[in-house]
Formats: sequence, C-alpha cells, structure tokens
Amino acid sequence: MTLLEKIYETRDFLQDKGIAAPEFGLILGSGLGELAEEVENAIVLDYADIPNWGQSTVVGHAGKLIYGDLSGRKVLALQGRFHFYEGNPMEVVTFPVRVMKALGCHSVVVTNAAGGIGFGPGTLMLINDHINMTGANPLIGENLDEFGPRFPDMSKAYTPEYRQVAYQVADKLGITLSEGVYLGCSGPTYETPAEIRAFKTLGADAVGMSTVPEVIVAAHSGMKVLGISAITNHAAGFQEELNHEEVVEVTTRIKEDFKGLIKAILAEL
Ligand code: HPA
Repeated sequence: MTLLEKIYETRDFLQDKGIAAPEFGLILGSGLGELAEEVENAIVLDYADIPNWGQSTVVGHAGKLIYGDLSGRKVLALQGRFHFYEGNPMEVVTFPVRVMKALGCHSVVVTNAAGGIGFGPGTLMLINDHINMTGANPLIGENLDEFGPRFPDMSKAYTPEYRQVAYQVADKLGITLSEGVYLGCSGPTYETPAEIRAFKTLGADAVGMSTVPEVIVAAHSGMKVLGISAITNHAAGFQEELNHEEVVEVTTRIKEDFKGLIKAILAEL
C-alpha cells in the first residue's frame, strides 16, 4: 500500500468510528497527555486498534487517540506521540498529522518537554521557529502532491497569529510565556555539553527529541501550528546531570498551568 492509500484507509476507519469533523489536532508530549482526559463527549481509541498507526513505547505516553470537545472546539488528541528514537520511520512518526489533515483539521497544537538553553525548568516557551538536527526529514521520498508542494516554505511554520493569541490568553491567566527556537535532535541520548554549546551558538533556546518532524509535515500541508515547550531542565553542561525522572517531575509540577493555558488558547483560536 502506498502512503497515500494508508492515510485514506486510516481516515476512513476513523470516520466510521464517528470521528467526523476535527478542527484541531493536539499532540501531547511527555507527561502532558492528561489534557486529553478533559475532552468531552469523547471517542477513545487505543493506538493498537487503529490501522497503519504506530505504537507508543515510552513510559508516560499512554497510546490513545481521543476525539471530542475541548473549549468548544472539536479536537483530535494524540495521547502519546511516536518518536524517531523508538526506531519508527519518519513516515510513522508523522502519520497522525497526515491523518489529522485528511480528516479536516486546519491546525495542530504541538507540545513537548525540552531542555532549556538559557531558559530554566518550569518555563513555558512558545516555539517561534525550529532547527532540524534529527538527521532526517519526513518529506524525503515521493511528494504527496495532494497535501502540499515538493519544496515547502518553512518561513512561518509556527503561525505568528497563534502566538499573539497565546500571549493575550497567558496574560489574562497570569501565566508567563517565553518564546524561542526549538532545536530537534533524534535522541535517545541527551545532548553532550559540547553539542549544547554548539546549539547555543546556532541560535537554539530549547532542545528536544520530537516536534520537528510533525511540524514539517503540518507545514507541508498548510496547517497552522501552535508549538509550546515545557522546559524541564537546563540543557547538558548547564546542570550537573540529566535524567528522565527530573523531566517527569517538572512536567508534573507545571502541567496544571499548562493544561489551563492550552484550553484557554483553544477557545480563542
Ligand atoms: N534534551 C533533549 N530532550 C529533552 C531534554 C533535554 O535536555 N529535556 C527534556 N527532553
């Protein structure tokens, strides 16, 4: 089966399950998936039951697709995403975004946990641009002309108007937002201190192991994107050591703010 056939097969399957008209795709990162539990009138599907879909392997990623109402919007939420470091081909990592588009989503909200270069733990960072250091690109291969052009413009991959809305909403809620460039690596190693020094020179403000592939595919098909990083630690070299436990702990601490922010932003987008 071609990629296009797989996308349409999965779309048809999900439509048959009642996933009729999603507007916003939500991709929820490490420890941030709880937001999906607030979706009302929910249709919940296990990843394992969806054709052509990948499988989640990381602790803290549930592996459920949830459709329903959130802040008066029809959302399709991924509770747990697919990472390149799990051994997934880029096609699998980004497949949900293709299906979101095929189902009619005009926008995606992408979240992640990230190490801060300058920003400290607890910071919520609006992503205004990215640097692709994954060593791959999800659009390599035959172009899906039905979705977008061979050489997509990435100048405004992170929709500027969505960031404006995010600032206004954060202001009302009394939540401080920072803004910066997300640099995406493949993982699964955290970066070396030398890599982080290099990335700092390159203009990165946060570093992580996700998001870049999904945003490339969203931008390819003209979807609007809001990206937010939860900074969980100082990147390598700026703190003694890095571990997944700290990432989970900091995400747990800030997730209430985070959930409130995303819900309030959704209502205004
Ligand atoms: N590096 C890469 N990914 C991450 C980090 C980090 O420091 N923190 C959370 N995810």
